[in-house]
Amino acid sequence: MIDVLIVGIGEYVTGLSGEGVAKSDKSFGVIALSLFDMRERGLVGEIHLAGRDAKRFDLIWEHFDKNLKSAYPFLDTSFHAYPEEGYSDEAYKEALNQMQEGSCVMIFTPDDTHFQIAKDALEAGMHVLVAKPLVKTTTEHLELQRLAKEKGLLLMLEVHKRFDPIYADAVDQIRTFGDFSLMHSYMSQPKTQLDTFASWAGISSDISYYLNAHHIDLLCWAVQDFAKPVSVVATASTGVADKKLEREVEDTITLTVQWENLQSGALGTSVHTASWIAPPSDVHSQQRFFYMGHTGEVNIDQAHRGYGISTDRVGYKSANPLFMKYTPRNGKFAGQQGYGYQSIETFVRSSDELSKEPTKLAAYNKTLPTIENTLNVTKILEAGRKSLDEGKVIFL
Ligand SMILES: NC(=O)c1ccc[n+]([C@@H]2O[C@H](COP(=O)([O-])OP(=O)(O)OC[C@H]3O[C@@H](n4cnc5c(N)ncnc54)[C@H](O)[C@@H]3O)[C@@H](O)[C@H]2O)c1
Repeated sequence: MIDVLIVGIGEYVTGLSGEGVAKSDKSFGVIALSLFDMRERGLVGEIHLAGRDAKRFDLIWEHFDKNLKSAYPFLDTSFHAYPEEGYSDEAYKEALNQMQEGSCVMIFTPDDTHFQIAKDALEAGMHVLVAKPLVKTTTEHLELQRLAKEKGLLLMLEVHKRFDPIYADAVDQIRTFGDFSLMHSYMSQPKTQLDTFASWAGISSDISYYLNAHHIDLLCWAVQDFAKPVSVVATASTGVADKKLEREVEDTITLTVQWENLQSGALGTSVHTASWIAPPSDVHSQQRFFYMGHTGEVNIDQAHRGYGISTDRVGYKSANPLFMKYTPRNGKFAGQQGYGYQSIETFVRSSDELSKEPTKLAAYNKTLPTIENTLNVTKILEAGRKSLDEGKVIFL
């Protein structure tokens, strides 16, 4: 059993966004709920949550009491909150001081804050799980990689798509298709989500870092043994988000990546598009990709699993309980098989295992999405931003 500190108390952790309960597909959040359930299953001990504004916890307790408890009446939703009073950007440090070395720290804060918080957590001797995108620059990635290695700690990236059984099968298939030739990926969020992201969208991060991170990670993982990225050029569409947020911010970003197959030298191309101006639809987020290798191809629409639900309250929706299953069964949370949950459980179990057998770290660094094997993802995302800012092709 291992203790956990979660840094960040926004939509992904609690289901609360700036204005209140998120109007997304994650109104119950993902991280805190999964950990409450893991505590019930005896996998985690204490749960600590660090934000910046102590007042925000009143809303969180009310939301958990009213909404989580109405779905799962017996779920223990208690946690230690930081800061206890007032406002502090560094309340997480106070929390770190309360944790035993070798505990878990999970970072779900805006993209540009991941580096410093992860560095502080590693220096305090904790295993760390970081939301995608892990960090924004290659320099930051290499610095954390050095530190995690020196300390013998696990630094894992939270890329739950790797735990989706269909995406994971596609990766296994892709590895039998010979050289890499072409990938197209698309992922979107509705424009209402721009309200949730208003404090950082176009200021400290962009839609490519936020959403392209998923499919770029998947491709890098699939072809890591036989192809490498060599250059990136990015293009953008504008005109909606900038009006809504009254500042410069792209609506849609497309990264075109040139790849080279390691043995044959044959070229491959991947095109990754991410947008946050989608209209309301039967799903919150569109997510799909097409991959072609020299001897096979794969087409996946992750948003449409052939499972539709209609209600008087919200009309028709294409459902994906494979990610997070919120609908209770016999008054209990029943989403332990969801790939959102599995991604977090894998980190918790692996960290706990390391406290008994530290030598397992080498194996985890091969098989899990860790700082050791995701450098190309950071390189491509950073090059995408640079290409937009400098208006040219970036060579890696
Ligand atoms: N929302 C999603 O569906 C989703 C899914 C996967 C990953 N993520 C990732 O999770 C991270 C957070 O996303 P979100 O949607 O929850 O954002 P959000 O804007 O709703 O929440 C961010 C939270 O971070 C807190 N924060 C900022 N600086 C902090 C600091 N110094 N110390 C402690 N807390 C701090 C804010 O107060 C806020 O509670 C991002 O990196 C995002 O890419 C989000």
